[in-house]
Amino acid sequence: MVLRKPGPILVNGLIRLEYRGYDSAGISTIEKNGISLIKDKGRVKNLESQAGLKELEGTIGIAHTRWATHGKPSKENSHPHMDNSKTFSVVHNGIIENFEALRERLKGYGYKFYSDTDTETIPNLIHHYYKKGGIENFLKAVHDACMDLKGSFAIEVICSDFPDNMIVVRKDSPLVIGKAEGENYLSSDIPAILSFTRNFYLLNDYEFAVLSRDNIDFYSKDLEPIEKEVQAIEWNAVGADKNGYEDYMLKEIYEQATSTRETVGARFQTGKQTSFDELNFTKEYLSSLNRIYIVACGTAMHAGLAGKIAIEKLSKIPTEVDIASEFRYRDPLVDEKTLCIFLTQSGETADTIAALKLSKEKGAKTLAISNVIGSSITREADLTIYTHAGPEIAVASTKAYTSQVVLMNVLAIYMAEVLENNDQKYLDSLKQDILDLPEKVEETLKVSESLKGFARQVFQEKDVFYLGRGVDYAIATEGCLKLKEISYIHSESYAGGELKHGTIALIEKGITVVGVLTDKELIKKTVSNLQEVITRGAKTLIITSDKDLDTSSFDVVLTIPETNSFISPVISVIPLQLFAYYVAKEKGLDVDKPRNLAKSVTVE
Ligand code: F6R
Repeated sequence: MVLRKPGPILVNGLIRLEYRGYDSAGISTIEKNGISLIKDKGRVKNLESQAGLKELEGTIGIAHTRWATHGKPSKENSHPHMDNSKTFSVVHNGIIENFEALRERLKGYGYKFYSDTDTETIPNLIHHYYKKGGIENFLKAVHDACMDLKGSFAIEVICSDFPDNMIVVRKDSPLVIGKAEGENYLSSDIPAILSFTRNFYLLNDYEFAVLSRDNIDFYSKDLEPIEKEVQAIEWNAVGADKNGYEDYMLKEIYEQATSTRETVGARFQTGKQTSFDELNFTKEYLSSLNRIYIVACGTAMHAGLAGKIAIEKLSKIPTEVDIASEFRYRDPLVDEKTLCIFLTQSGETADTIAALKLSKEKGAKTLAISNVIGSSITREADLTIYTHAGPEIAVASTKAYTSQVVLMNVLAIYMAEVLENNDQKYLDSLKQDILDLPEKVEETLKVSESLKGFARQVFQEKDVFYLGRGVDYAIATEGCLKLKEISYIHSESYAGGELKHGTIALIEKGITVVGVLTDKELIKKTVSNLQEVITRGAKTLIITSDKDLDTSSFDVVLTIPETNSFISPVISVIPLQLFAYYVAKEKGLDVDKPRNLAKSVTVE
């Protein structure tokens, strides 16, 4: 078998992982004369032009793309980091919370530090514990170092004494191992290695793996050998490619007819109860619940806001939506009679996982809704449902959001059917509306393209406001986040009725206000709020499904297909996603990798 050179494979993998961090990047391989180290601040493409990259010969290598936590983006702070003797090279995701104490301890032993990072303590700590000998000594040193670490980590280590091996371990940070023919791969996410293999091993916290080209040995926290089962992943590499689109975000926006269809799958069948093989809810169990919490961050939390409306209305169980980072520190009222639902695209968001662990400790049943098969949260939760939206690569979440909203609605209908507390004909009509979504998504994508012109009028503005009521407020909030994260324009969303309690002071001539008007019960009310801003000189973009609405006073009106208000977010968010996209493109920004953001927020 021809051994492949690592440089291009590692760079290619980093390019696919760049959505996770793009402050700096680096590579280490084991060469004949020791460990190589090539790294710098900036994007992965900077690496390709670095001297020596093409000449790398060693067939074992590690690489990293960084999202700075400790220390600014710079060459010194980039990974990999080596120990003082240059025997070990390490890449690390996560945060070492006790790094300052470890640094001081190591300084006491004579070690020197050349970066501001928490990571640099790791190779030096491994070196401190290392006694030359067999591979078991290398493993023992990595193990002993890890036992000193507090915080979260996924670590890959190479050692110049073992040119055919690599050791990896994780705790609270993602790590997957891909098994191929005569080659093995490691990554913090599946897409980076999907073109080499579909067979993966997933490590649990404090499990170690010793890899060589054609073998992987697994060890427990006590370094006892353990067996792990290989898992086949259904995604294909095309799903993780741009497929002819200019950006991942645009591709993912346009995939929403397919992705929402995949989310529903075969759960609805004529004349049958909605099926959720993953759940075993009984009428007694659901009737015993005192409350449901939906806990998430960012866009997933916004999907929770939309999901709450459907779940609460259909199941009549009090339902609250909470921000994971708040929930975990506010001693929430959770007990055995609470169902806690955790929404997360990546399944790796640190705050959401911590909130789940807390709920479990308090005795609640925990249900994870994730897009990533085998992600950390799915291994912690009592129950898991997958959104099946396919890989989402762009940092700004689009198709994962619409799939989350669809899934929450399917779940709400399922719960209502188990509870038998709604008219079945009504539930059947809601199911039909969900089945009709893909066509309506296609139609909405077409009409929304007309917003390109309006984006040209807005891209130089400093502030944009979004208004809506009820479910339309939830959408306004998501549309607003999309605009700020990829176009860097300051934007705020308000419940229509709340505007006059302060924020209206900011409305002046020429300011852009986006109104979302789909909830029939509330449209007139929001129109009145929009009149208030028009009177003060605002220009307005209206997204509405009401064909009979008098729209003469608005500047731009986009009419979208009508559906029931529970799932209207799936339709009405599309023009807002595209609007944000067009504005960011007009500004010449990198929409897939907005500044300061990372796709998976695996640190607190
Ligand atoms: C915004 C966005 C973020 C994520 C948030 C949660 O477009 O993508 O707000 O929604 O970081 O991420 P997940 O869903 O992976 O837990």
